[in-house]
Amino acid sequence: MPEHILVAVAWPYANGPRHIGHVAGFGVPSDIFARYQRLKGNYVLMISGTDEHGTPITIAADKEGLSPKTLVDRYSEIISEDLRNLGLSYDTFTRTTTQNHYRVTQDIFKTLYDKGYILRKTALGAFSATTGRTLPDRYVEGTCPFCGYGEARGDQCDNCGNQLDPVDLINPRSKIDGTAPVFKETEHFFLDLPAFAEQLAAWIERQEHWRPNVRNFSLNFLKELKQRAITRDLEWGVPIPLPEYEQRDDKKIYVWFDAVIGYLSASVEWANNRGTPDAWRDWWQNPAARHFYFMGKDNIVFHTIIWPAQLLGYGNGGAIGGNGDKPALELPYNVVSSEFLTMEGKKFSSSRGIVIYVNDFLSRYDPDPLRYFLTIAGPENQDTDFTWVEFVRRNNDELVATWGNLVNRTLTNVYRNFGTVPQPGPYAPGDEALIAAVEAGFDTVGELLDGARFKAALTEAMRLAAQVNGYLSEQEPWKVIKQDRERAATILYVALRCVDNLKMLIAPFLPFTSQKLHELLGYTGYIAGPLEFREYTEDNNSSHRILTGDYASWVGSWSSSALPIGQQLREPKPLFKKLDEKVVAEELARMEQ
Ligand code: MF3
Ligand code: ZN
Repeated sequence: MPEHILVAVAWPYANGPRHIGHVAGFGVPSDIFARYQRLKGNYVLMISGTDEHGTPITIAADKEGLSPKTLVDRYSEIISEDLRNLGLSYDTFTRTTTQNHYRVTQDIFKTLYDKGYILRKTALGAFSATTGRTLPDRYVEGTCPFCGYGEARGDQCDNCGNQLDPVDLINPRSKIDGTAPVFKETEHFFLDLPAFAEQLAAWIERQEHWRPNVRNFSLNFLKELKQRAITRDLEWGVPIPLPEYEQRDDKKIYVWFDAVIGYLSASVEWANNRGTPDAWRDWWQNPAARHFYFMGKDNIVFHTIIWPAQLLGYGNGGAIGGNGDKPALELPYNVVSSEFLTMEGKKFSSSRGIVIYVNDFLSRYDPDPLRYFLTIAGPENQDTDFTWVEFVRRNNDELVATWGNLVNRTLTNVYRNFGTVPQPGPYAPGDEALIAAVEAGFDTVGELLDGARFKAALTEAMRLAAQVNGYLSEQEPWKVIKQDRERAATILYVALRCVDNLKMLIAPFLPFTSQKLHELLGYTGYIAGPLEFREYTEDNNSSHRILTGDYASWVGSWSSSALPIGQQLREPKPLFKKLDEKVVAEELARMEQ
């Protein structure tokens, strides 16, 4: 029975282009997982979009002298283009500024409010003395009341680690212009997290399949659970759905409250766009469905505590959920978080030029070598470093030398000598065993992928490729063919079958080159692809573009190759390019500029 699998990918802020550290965290791992699950025949719904509210947006807009809307329009377009070029196979990659998203967010807010899980409280908020606008917590600095550190931030002190509020700081000042902020009483709405403490603790305790850091961090966080403000004094955001607030333009829903709701609203949008408006319920109101979330480690708390609390509070209530007539919304099954990627030993920083943007990278290199590097040497379980030396080495010594070389010598020898998939003669000892060893990869690699162990999965697939390479070097079909054409045909058939199997085992990681190989082997159709953009117009007449694809038409499947004997091959071309060592110096010089 196929399973319903939700692949919920963290929403990138539309405040600038994404760099390779971002896509290492949320992008490539989630796509490998989704592609694998689809090839296995499961019903996959992979959703995300650009995160377009909050101070990350307003601050960037101020800096660039643009309105928030102009800014997010620009970067949503750039980001979705980059994700498409990397082959990230979203069923729907949308935006948080859609009418649909506002509607779903307001339904959740309203339902939690009516159930008493959202409380009104008055608190002292920091406003800029010069502009009168709210100062985000992180934009207030001052002396820590606990340890006396002079550069504590309004949300926490980096010296002693204490959580702070801007009012707690001694001699507070605005990070933007140094003036002392003005504190004013202002009403805010708070999510009553402590009301869910017991349920959350019991639930997280049971999640033994989570990565230990995610589970431990979340259990620890539960120890100090506080009510959390979910509104901000900002003009830009989803309106608070209460009569006295709906028309006000100075207070909006906090960006994180609405962004996580995007997982649900994007699923609803996907269903609407397909003309099957209830189809999202098969994932969200189906206790057998499994939801996998992918993100960088700084996002954990929002996915293991806050979003689950929102879901628990909403339950089966609310207009979207079916007003109590349907099952409650599903909680996450797994929260797959990665660590951080650094660049040449330093933290990514656009302002200091320590950065490589996805579009810049892809203007000089192909997507698959990047996907390869980010999987094999990325921050799956610990912080890792991107260096150009390593990128070139991994590309040349692993991708080109092992997999590329195997494909190349197999295809050229078959093409030159037979043109079609040759009829094998009797098998020699070892021939069938090799095919069986590679085909066992559908279980071993598959199991690792199921467990979100991407690096180990790719390592296993590459080990199998190396084994087939060893077989070819030992059997030397290019020599055998001079005396024994039938034996050469058998060896090359065995190698081709293995290559065809490896093509599928590697397809989730390297979709572009697997597709090329699929065609060189004489097949037609997409094993997995392509992606496309579609434009949708909502009731309010505003339109937006989503990244999607018709993945139901994929011809690939996670099962052994049935390579037809006699199938005509296409003229072989290399799948990968060997990179010149001088690339390293060039790229390092580019960073210096
Ligand atoms: N925009 C956030 C970031 O870039 C991630 C949001 S993920 C979601 O860190 F949960 F809000 F969807
Ligand atoms: Zn301190």
